Amino acid sequence: MSGSDSADDDAVDDETAPDGDRVPVLLVRGDREYLVEPGDEMGTDLGVLEVPPDVQSGDTLETHLGDEFQVRRLRGPDLFHHFERTGAPMVPRDIGLVIGETGIARGDRVLDAGTGTGVLAAMMARAGASVVTYERDADFADVARENMALGGVSDAVDVRTGDVLAEIDDLEPSSFDVLTLDTGDAPAMVEHAPDLLVDGGFVAVYSPFIESTREVAETAREVGLSNVTTRETIQREMQFDERGSRPTTAPVGHTGYLTVARNE
Ligand SMILES: C[S@@+](CC[C@H](N)C(=O)[O-])C[C@H]1O[C@@H](n2cnc3c(N)ncnc32)[C@H](O)[C@@H]1O
Repeated sequence: MSGSDSADDDAVDDETAPDGDRVPVLLVRGDREYLVEPGDEMGTDLGVLEVPPDVQSGDTLETHLGDEFQVRRLRGPDLFHHFERTGAPMVPRDIGLVIGETGIARGDRVLDAGTGTGVLAAMMARAGASVVTYERDADFADVARENMALGGVSDAVDVRTGDVLAEIDDLEPSSFDVLTLDTGDAPAMVEHAPDLLVDGGFVAVYSPFIESTREVAETAREVGLSNVTTRETIQREMQFDERGSRPTTAPVGHTGYLTVARNE
């Protein structure tokens, strides 16, 4: 169970995850938001909530003091707020860019490294892909497996403990439609992209740093990948008030650079 004060067609059933896990739901009231499993009992500042085993999205639950919470189905962006965090997760906006730029869809086989919190891996699985993801930190990998269960995608995401570069010989050539890389050593993995990808497959590399990004782009060209493009993923939030409309004056946060290249 987790709580926070702070939101695609999901290939996930409302009541039962593909592997039989109990699928958590969100309980929402104003800016209160709690992730609970069917059958849980939870204390809140508004009283105790008992979550029935057959709870459904759309239900309304009352605390013992009479305050109402709406039951909501967990959707992709909720994973970012509720997964237990280890390696810095990609924000939903940047995951949208990865999925849009590479066309990840139902039936795709994706190789992902490193898993980290697993938000990218889980959202790709919810879009219909089968994901093999490597995490070299064993504790992080354990947390990621729990997060996959939470997201209802344990069946679609194979979290492997290990350094992806050390395991490269165990991976079948031309067996992936997309490679997604979010590690400091991504340039070394890009060297293997032509061997690992099917013809026409994509590699997408996400990095917060320009030095590594440049190395990725140069390596991608050297190994013969085509259509190599790098973009900063920044977006400006708009502010609408009585004085007018403009981008918000609050600092604009940099998240990362996304390099995409194709095997053709
Ligand atoms: C920035 S996080 C990835 C976050 C992930 N994309 C997400 O959305 O949650 C990077 C992770 O990669 C792992 N890592 C770094 N190099 C690796 C490698 N060569 N093989 C496997 N895991 C690696 C790190 O331990 C870390 O947990």
